[in-house]
Amino acid sequence: MMSSVNFLTSIASIFALGSALQVHGRNSPNVPDVADHPSVFEVPMGSRNVYPAENFNRDVTTTWWETTVLDGHSSDASTELAGALKEASFLVLDNAMYTLLGSNGKTTGPTVERIFTFPEPPSFARRMVHDGTVYSPECNCIFFAELHPPKAGFSADAMPWVWRVDLSQTPPITEKVYPSPQLTVPNGAYYHNGSVYWAQEGNYTVPGGVVRMDPVTLKTEVVLNNWFGHRFNSPNDVVITRDGVAYFTDGYYGYDNFNDTLKPELANGVWRWEINTGDVRMVSGAGGGPFTNPNGVALNHKQDRLYVTNRGNSSDNPAGGRTIYEFQLDHHSFARPVTGGEVFTYSDSGFPDGIKVDKDGRVYGGVTGGVHVFDVSGRQLGIIKVAEGDVAVNMQFVGPWLYIAGREHLYRVKLATEGAQGYPSKVRSSCVRRNHC
Ligand SMILES: *[C@@H]1O[C@H](CO)[C@@H](O)[C@H](O)[C@H]1NC(C)=O
Ligand SMILES: *[C@@H]1O[C@H](CO)[C@@H](O)[C@H](O)[C@H]1NC(C)=O
Ligand SMILES: *[C@@H]1O[C@H](CO)[C@@H](O)[C@H](O)[C@H]1NC(C)=O
Ligand SMILES: *[C@@H]1O[C@H](CO)[C@@H](O)[C@H](O)[C@H]1NC(C)=O
Repeated sequence: MMSSVNFLTSIASIFALGSALQVHGRNSPNVPDVADHPSVFEVPMGSRNVYPAENFNRDVTTTWWETTVLDGHSSDASTELAGALKEASFLVLDNAMYTLLGSNGKTTGPTVERIFTFPEPPSFARRMVHDGTVYSPECNCIFFAELHPPKAGFSADAMPWVWRVDLSQTPPITEKVYPSPQLTVPNGAYYHNGSVYWAQEGNYTVPGGVVRMDPVTLKTEVVLNNWFGHRFNSPNDVVITRDGVAYFTDGYYGYDNFNDTLKPELANGVWRWEINTGDVRMVSGAGGGPFTNPNGVALNHKQDRLYVTNRGNSSDNPAGGRTIYEFQLDHHSFARPVTGGEVFTYSDSGFPDGIKVDKDGRVYGGVTGGVHVFDVSGRQLGIIKVAEGDVAVNMQFVGPWLYIAGREHLYRVKLATEGAQGYPSKVRSSCVRRNHC
C-alpha cells in the first residue's frame, strides 16, 4: 500500500513540477514561426473558386487548410493546395496584400514572431481566451485579459490579474499584473485620455460594466454598471471616440458560456454612452436587430465608422453570426448618432472576435488560424497566420507592429501601416526619449 502511495505522490510531484514550470509562461526572444517554404502564398484564383477535389467539406470551426477531401476523391492538386495554405505565414488573396506586407518579392514577407507562450489554464477551463489588447503610451505597454470559458459543470472564475506586455524591454516582457480593486472578468479594452477602459462581464456578485484603470498605478474605478437599475448582460468590448463617446457591446456570454452571471435582463445589443453627460442608450440590437451576442468593436481613424462583430449563439453553429457589421457615426446628430449596420464581411473560420482598423481603413479580424485582413470596401486581402492550431483573438497596433493575442501565444508582425487610433504625441515622445515610461 505504502509504496503505491509513494508512487502516486511522486507522479503527482512530477506533474506539480511540470505545472510550476509552466506558471509564468515563456517570453521568447524573437522566435520566428517559420519553416523552409515560401512564407507568402498567393492563392490562385482558379483553386479558390473551384476546389481541386471532386467532393469535400469543412466545418466552420476549422481552417481553410483543414478542408476535408471526402473518401476516394483526394488528388495531388488538393493535397498541394492544402499544404501550401498550411505552410505559408501569409496568404494573399488580392495584390493589395503585398503593399501591407511591404514585400516586393512574391514569396518573402515579414516574420510573424512568437513573443510569449501562455502557461496552461486552470483545470476547470475549457480553453483560454486573450482579449482586450490595449496600448497605453503612459506605460509604453499593452494590457490584455485572460478568460477561461469553463468545462461543463463549472463556472468561470474572476482572475485577479491581467497580462501586461512591457515594450520598453527588448524583447518585450509579458507578465501578470494586478489591477486594484481587481477586475471582474474583463474582456475588451480601449485607451482614452490617459486611462484604460475595460469592458467587464461581471459575475454573480459583481455587476458587469465599464471600469477605468490607471495604466501606471493600476488603480481601478467602476464608471458604468447599470442602465436604470438593470445589470448589463456581459459587456464584451468598448471603444471611445476622441470627444468621449463610448460604444460597447453586450451579449449573453456570461450566462450562456461562462455560467458566472445572473440571468440576462436586457436584449443583446450595441450601446452608446456619452461619458460627459451620462446619456446611455442602445443603438443597435434591440427589437430584433442583427445581433445575437455582439462582440468586438472598432473605430476607423476619422471616427465616422464603427465596426461591430457578432458571434451568434455559439461559434460552431453554422447559422451563427460570424459577421462584421459597419455603422456610420455622426457625432453632431444627437437624434440619430448611429445609422447603417450593413454586413461588412462574413467569416469562414470561427468568428471575428477582436477587430482593429489601421490608419488606411483596413479592417483586421482575429479568427481561427490567423488574422483576416479586409480593405475599406470589405474585400478580403489576405490572411496573417498564427501557429497551427492557435486562434487569433484580438490585436493591437503599436507603431507599425501588429501584436496578436492568440489563445496559446502572443505574436507580433511588422506591417507597412499603423493603427487607426492616435495617441497623444507628447506622452509618446517623452516615452521614446526616456526609453522607459
Ligand atoms: C454552473 O456552475 C455551477 C457552480 O460552479 C455548477 O455546479 C453547475 O453545474 C454549472 N452549470 C453548468 C451548466 O455547467
Ligand atoms: C466575483 O468577482 C469578484 C472579484 O471582483 C470576486 O471577489 C468574487 O468572488 C466573484 N464572485 C463569484 C460568485 O465568483
Ligand atoms: C480628459 O481628462 C481630463 C481630466 O484628466 C478632463 O478634464 C477632460 O475633460 C477629459 N477629456 C475628455 C475628452 O474626456
Ligand atoms: C439562439 O439563442 C436564442 C436565445 O437563447 C434562442 O431563442 C434561439 O433559438 C437560438 N438560435 C439558434 C439557431 O440556436
